[in-house]
Order: sequence, then structure tokens, then C-alpha cells
Amino acid sequence: MARSTRRWDLVLYGASGFVGRQTAAYIARHGAGLRWAVAGRNAGKLREVLAGLGPAAAEAGVIVADAHDAAALDALAAGTRVVLSSAGPYALYGSELVAACVRRRTHYVDITGETPWVRKMIDRHHDAAARDGTRIVPGCGFDSVPSDLGTWLMTRAMRERHGSACVEVKASFSMKGGVNGGTVASLLNNLASGRTDAFLQPFLLNPAGTAPEDTAPHADPYAPHRDDDFDAWLGPFVMGPINTRVVRRSAALARARGDGGYAEGLRYQEYQHYGDGAAAALAAAGMSAMAVSGQGALALAPMRWLLSKVTPAPGEGPSERAMDEGWFRCRLVARDAEGHVLRGKIADRGDPGNRATTKFVCESALALLHDADALPPGGGVLTPATAFGAVLVRRLREAGMTLTVED
Ligand SMILES: NC(=O)c1ccc[n+]([C@@H]2O[C@H](COP(=O)([O-])OP(=O)(O)OC[C@H]3O[C@@H](n4cnc5c(N)ncnc54)[C@H](OP(=O)(O)O)[C@@H]3O)[C@@H](O)[C@H]2O)c1
Repeated sequence: MARSTRRWDLVLYGASGFVGRQTAAYIARHGAGLRWAVAGRNAGKLREVLAGLGPAAAEAGVIVADAHDAAALDALAAGTRVVLSSAGPYALYGSELVAACVRRRTHYVDITGETPWVRKMIDRHHDAAARDGTRIVPGCGFDSVPSDLGTWLMTRAMRERHGSACVEVKASFSMKGGVNGGTVASLLNNLASGRTDAFLQPFLLNPAGTAPEDTAPHADPYAPHRDDDFDAWLGPFVMGPINTRVVRRSAALARARGDGGYAEGLRYQEYQHYGDGAAAALAAAGMSAMAVSGQGALALAPMRWLLSKVTPAPGEGPSERAMDEGWFRCRLVARDAEGHVLRGKIADRGDPGNRATTKFVCESALALLHDADALPPGGGVLTPATAFGAVLVRRLREAGMTLTVED
């Protein structure tokens, strides 16, 4: 089917949600000339979103399709070139939409961090999407673009500067930001689903046969340590068990395409950055202990109930001011087998879970629409790095984000 004959270029699914409203505003600002629509289960809420955007959204359409209405989602997917979904928890609202996109050969991006659900989508749809050249790309938000595209950037720089592959990449994160109700709902849904064992597998997202026999060197860190590469105290990072799986999938998919930038057995790990000195050491120790005990506590249903009562509800999130005052910094260190070391940085102003996430996922969708010929070839259930590579690096830089590599 010729995709240009479709009614829409882009459909924003879940546009009435906290992130969804921000994606609609981003597309209204940056999607000049696009034929786009907002979609979800509630027509009234969707019209309100467009009304709030004024003339910039005057031509945008409204599509009503509940997440469980397979026929409506099929029509939605058949009528657009690209779907951007911010309707989560994805384990609850995402599966039918992905199936429709694969069936209708419609490219798809989202902002999920629900790796057990992504595993399901890989098992169900990777082969068909790969056969048809359809790009299904979960994880295009703060989890997991800085980790995944950052590692990809380091592999490129290592090849260009030293002609070698990365054997190790480490990332450390600092940030200031708020929490969305949708994120809490997704976390709680995952914990209640009984799939936490899957969540903890270091190679959960890898293609069959690409995980090493000995996964011990890739285990998630749980204790703080002083790291000479970063000259700082580091501890476990809350999103590490999500992002590391995505990076490892990228490494395996890239190697299968003949991309030698990721050495076989590449070690990728990421951490929370606490800085240097005694206060930082204390903070790293305290926060690491809290992370471990918090994980244990949230295995209990009453603790999950309590968390849902003290955090924002679905549809809610940080204030505009808090989102403007947020920021993130992802520092990267990469080495090759000869001992060459490169340092990189990805950083931006704005709340990472909202401002940066919106930029990441919207620029990913725009890459599918505007840069199709420059994208790495091939479809499937992909990762941000394997779907977008250099194109997304360029687009994010043009959108004002810092992505750099130094010696
Ligand atoms: N990667 C990242 O860094 C990052 C950052 C932020 C959020 N997230 C993830 O993104 C997702 C959304 O977060 P959020 O804060 O925007 O959540 P939210 O405000 O609760 O939005 C959820 C959206 O899902 C829609 N929805 C709920 N039930 C539906 C159904 N049966 N059919 C169709 N749509 C339905 C809601 O529609 P109604 O308005 O009609 O209820 C709403 O549009 C979550 O999974 C969250 O974890 C990821």
C-alpha cells in the first residue's frame, strides 16, 4: 500500500494524557505542513486539547478509538503513516494498537519503559514487522533514548577516531524532575502483574541466542562505589534495569546487521551520579540502601496502595514551572580493547520525563516522516538507536539538545 495515500501523516494516540497534551503542543509548533490527528477514547477531551492549541492545530483531526476496540484501532492504523502513542500503562492499553500497526504496516513510536510488555511485543511482532519493513520502536522517551542513542554515539566516535569497537560503555545520570501519575500507574501495574522476574533479567530484550552464558558481569548494580572514570560516587539508577536491556538489544541487533561498533560481549552499565566528597559518598550509600529496601517493600500490595495514594494520579504531573526548572545530564565513558577512552554527554534543560521525553519521541516520529531515506534500513521491533541512529542525533541537536563526544 502506498503510504502517501493515507489520510494522516501522524496520529498522536493518548493525546489527552499528561505527556500526550505536550506531544500535541510540540507537533503544533514543529509539525508545519503535516496532516495530523489526535486520538484516544474520549472525543470531548481530545477536542479540548486541540482547542487549547489555537490556530496551529486548526487542521488537526480527532479519532476516537478505545485501546480495546480492535476494529477502531485497525482503521486508525490503516489511515496514517506513523502512530505516536503515549497511552500507558502500555501493558493495559498498548497491545492492540501495536498489533494494528504491524498488520497495517504503519510505523510506530512510544515512550514505554515496561520492558516485560516490550518482550511480548517482540515475540508477537518482530518477525512480521521485519519482513514488511515496519518500524515498531518502543522506548523513545527519557527511557531509553539518552542511554541507547548515547551508547550508539560512543560506538560511532570510537570507530571514527580509533577504528575500534567499544568493549565497555558506562553512563551516569544527574537530573531534576517530577513524577507523572501515568508513570506511577505503569510501575504499579508491572509490580502487580507478577512479571518482576522478567523485569530483572539482564538480557530480557535480546534476540534469541544472543545473551552470554555468564550474565554475572552484566548484573544490575545494587551498591554504591567511587568511580575513577567519572571522578564521583555512583549508585544504582532507578531506570537502569530498563535502559540496560534496551542498549543490549541494540548491540545485538546492530551486530546482526554487521555493525562492528559494539564489540561482542560489550558491557553496558548505568548509574545515578552523586558527585565527589564525603557528602556525596553518604548520599550514594543512603539512596542505594533506600532503592534496595524500596524494591522489597513494593513487592507488598499494601505498600503499592500507599504509594498510589501519595503520588500523582493518572492524568496528573508536575507543574509547568517545575517542568521548566527541570534538567538532566547523562555522562558517558566508553573504552575499546586497546584502552582508548572517550567521554560523551547528553543534556538538556526541562523536566526529563516530560520536556525531554516529548522532544525525544516527537523528533523520533518526525524522523520517520521526514528522513525515511536516511534511516538505518530494516524493520522489526527496534530500539531508538537501531531505528534512528545518526538521524535522531542530528534532529535532537537541531532541537537544542547537547549530544557531544570528547577525547
Ligand atoms: N519514557 C519516559 O521517560 C516517560 C515519561 C513519562 C511518561 N511515560 C509513560 O507514558 C505513559 C503515559 O504517561 P502520562 O503521564 O501521560 O499518563 P496519563 O496522563 O495517565 O495518560 C494516559 C493516557 O492513556 C489514555 N487511556 C487510558 N485508558 C485508555 C483506554 N481504555 N483507551 C484509550 N486510551 C486510554 C488516557 O486517556 P483519558 O484521558 O481518556 O483517560 C490518557 O490519554 C505511561 O505509561 C508512563 O509510564 C514515560
